[in-house]
Amino acid sequence: MRQAMANSIVGDDGYGEDPTVNALEARYAEIVGKEAALFVPSGVMANQIAVRVLTRPGDVIVAGRGQHVVSFEMGASARNSSVQFATVDDTDGVMLLSDVLDVIDAELDHQPHVAMVAVENTHMPSGGTPWDVNDFRALANAVGERPVHLDGARLFNAVVATGTSAAEYAAPATTVMTCLSKGLCAPVGSLLAGPAVLMERARVERKRLGGTMRQAGVLAAAGLVALDTMIDRLADDHGRARQIADHFASAFPESHYDPATCRTNIVAFSHPQARQIVDELAKLGVEGGTVAPRRARFVTHAGVTDDDVAFVGEVLAKFKPTTR
Ligand SMILES: Cc1ncc(COP(=O)(O)O)c(C=O)c1O
Repeated sequence: MRQAMANSIVGDDGYGEDPTVNALEARYAEIVGKEAALFVPSGVMANQIAVRVLTRPGDVIVAGRGQHVVSFEMGASARNSSVQFATVDDTDGVMLLSDVLDVIDAELDHQPHVAMVAVENTHMPSGGTPWDVNDFRALANAVGERPVHLDGARLFNAVVATGTSAAEYAAPATTVMTCLSKGLCAPVGSLLAGPAVLMERARVERKRLGGTMRQAGVLAAAGLVALDTMIDRLADDHGRARQIADHFASAFPESHYDPATCRTNIVAFSHPQARQIVDELAKLGVEGGTVAPRRARFVTHAGVTDDDVAFVGEVLAKFKPTTR
């Protein structure tokens, strides 16, 4: 990847003249089956641009309560686009169609216009849960003309876990984004794809948000390597996460964590002492984090080896929080 970055041919992407960025955008658009794509510095920016092009101030977005665009973007959708969220339960990683339709139905009860639906696949806080493409299709069909944005920061984890192609997953969505960082190992960058006319507007919004880069081909080159060579290896991350999930389930039976719910690269479980557990395990060399009060999260990636998984097992076999 670093070699590809060093050898990349670059131009000025502010003028659409960086051949490596153009190649990356075309490649992603092809993979997800959309007309056009846009390379942006981060996943948050990809989501924020989607919100900008799919809503107007005062609109409502329906989304799962735990989704990144709702809970982990520092209120950016309100700040950048003057929209609000109507959130529905997504504890298990998916939203119920009936919940989403209830929000939309409330327009008839003097409630604000529901401009779009945002879906996260895989769904991070529930433990990297992949959507069933049939459920996603049913949701998109049921909301009719309303655009659907797919936050596929980890879309390829869902692809590898389920065998559903990225294009099949993206088909019901108006716009789709994916992070090249995270499991795909690129140092920087995300992609947003959708209809060409929307992506032209997205290009303007990227500029407004300060996300236009110049000789960005040096980063896009890493992105091409990510798309070409890092997708299949996600299966290794998933296998290791599943083993780590088993270790956590045995170490903390009181959490009632079902390791079978770990289907991709995220081990997430609820525990009253989650923060303490995370802090104390970090001191022992097992690094994770919390994503909500009383919810711990551990993630596998290319830097986590089988030896590391064995190490986690050894640490957890002996581990007792100091004030259990
Ligand atoms: C589901 C999801 N969407 C969006 C993002 C944002 O990506 P970035 O950190 O590149 O801004 C993340 C990051 O963790 C994420 O998990």
